[in-house]
Amino acid sequence: MGDVLAGAATGVIRGRNDVPPRFRPPAPPRHFVGRDAELDAIRSGVTLLHGAGGAGKTALALKWLWERGSGDQLHVDLGAHDLGRVLRAFGLGADPGEEQAVFRGLVTRRQFTLLLDNADSAEQVTPLLPASGTVLVTSRSELDLPRAHAVEVGPLTDDGRLGRLLDLSYVELPERQARLYRLCAWEADAFGVPVAAAIAGESECDVEDALDDLVEKSLLTEVGDDAFRFHDLVRAHARAKRYQ
Ligand SMILES: Nc1ncnc2c1ncn2[C@@H]1O[C@H](COP(=O)(O)OP(=O)(O)OP(=O)(O)O)[C@@H](O)[C@H]1O
Ligand SMILES: [Mg+2]
Repeated sequence: MGDVLAGAATGVIRGRNDVPPRFRPPAPPRHFVGRDAELDAIRSGVTLLHGAGGAGKTALALKWLWERGSGDQLHVDLGAHDLGRVLRAFGLGADPGEEQAVFRGLVTRRQFTLLLDNADSAEQVTPLLPASGTVLVTSRSELDLPRAHAVEVGPLTDDGRLGRLLDLSYVELPERQARLYRLCAWEADAFGVPVAAAIAGESECDVEDALDDLVEKSLLTEVGDDAFRFHDLVRAHARAKRYQ
């Protein structure tokens, strides 16, 4: 079934016009630095941003959308958002077998600039790609996507700017968050709330709130259900704070 037919049959035309807030891309991290070449490499059409976990693919996509993206923007986290839920948020219903076509019809018709975040496979992404328009896809794998222009997101190199920007965020932290930031940075890899609570000697409940605030401030990354991880350069910044 073609996009237009799928859309017409299931009510794309009648769906709500604006992008529901939870599917709008958030602002990029305040301490975003570098990536000039990668930002220049993103263009209209389909761009695949691929690189290791925590390299900065989502941050890069958000930065580009914030600065250079146009029109209405739709952010779908393929790792977390169920497609049916996205459609329902637009007031659309679809049978499970038709969801991908209805989604494609929605994006095509509304000319959304689309961010498909955390893609696992080409099979997951390809049925969602509109016939035209701008789509950013992030993945830890170099997916074989039709029409896509691939941009590798390698390790972030530090030219000193990141440290200065992180300092600005750090000095604004309430003491509990600042302490947690310094202490948890001694974990070399991902850690959960119980570990952070043990390190800080605080209740899991208090620590969970503080960790969520650090994620909100882009100082910490949530990497799964209640699992957190520092970007390597952020971890180095946090560790250095122990000695200041
Ligand atoms: N250019 C940058 N400048 C400053 N901080 C950055 C930059 N890129 C990423 N970060 C920080 O690094 C952390 C990880 O970045 P991000 O979530 O974008 O990684 P990712 O590649 O999307 O990871 P994943 O594969 O787990 O989705 C975040 O805290 C983010 O704020
Ligand atoms: Mg990401």
